[in-house]
Amino acid sequence: MLKGQKALVTGANSGIGRATAIGLGRAGADVVVNYVADRDAAEQVVDEIKGFGVRAAAYEADVSQEDQVIAMVDGMVQEFGTIDILVANAGLQRDARLTDMTLAQWQKVLDVNLTGQFLCAREVTKEFLRRGVVPEVSRAAGKIICMSSVHQLIPWAGHVNYASSKGGVLMMMQTLAQELAPQRIRVNAVAPGAIRTPINRSAWETPEARKDLLRLIPYDRIGDPDDIAYAVVGLASDLMDYVVGTTLYVDGGMTLFPGFATGG
Ligand code: BGC
Repeated sequence: MLKGQKALVTGANSGIGRATAIGLGRAGADVVVNYVADRDAAEQVVDEIKGFGVRAAAYEADVSQEDQVIAMVDGMVQEFGTIDILVANAGLQRDARLTDMTLAQWQKVLDVNLTGQFLCAREVTKEFLRRGVVPEVSRAAGKIICMSSVHQLIPWAGHVNYASSKGGVLMMMQTLAQELAPQRIRVNAVAPGAIRTPINRSAWETPEARKDLLRLIPYDRIGDPDDIAYAVVGLASDLMDYVVGTTLYVDGGMTLFPGFATGG
């Protein structure tokens, strides 16, 4: 489905990013696996992707650092020839109640989750614009998929930094989609609900936590990273060429106000 396309996935050595990078490789794309720590994990992802007969490489860069993002995108264009798909996935949580939250915790989450996506989107867009549409490859000049969260919509007590970053991702995604659509660049987002990854281990690790969590998920199961990977592959492909500026919620119904299933 994505044969001949070059994809960059940030934060691709674990969790949702890892599954997404592998999913893109399975769909035929060549993939750059960005990571900031744990090179071994990134190399494992690379090996798995190469098993599909496509190219893959690991690239270390902190997405919140402008010089590192510029160098990564330049390096990818040199090595792989160009870039067709960005999955701006790298993200983290630093949870605290408001009065305990340090400025460093606030800033770190905004820097990685929001500024990091901005920097990656800006740099890949320069290459999309330089190259333009290559009809044999894709109907679009480029695709940007922002990894958001149900918390771009659902307020989340104890997580004001994270929820604010994802609220920012929503408006950034829509604004960029509007700005870049005339150049045939499609910007969209995927908003995962509760997906079984290291970021939210405490929410699913114990039976009690899992029971509490499932109360928030009408579909009654915790998501798998592959649930998100499939959504990303779909959005990146020409089958969804007319999808511009949309958020695809992949959340088992978490955004359906499950508390109202019986009340109200
Ligand atoms: C967060 C997870 C959380 C999920 C649902 C995600 O964006 O990173 O920690 O479990 O939203 O609340």
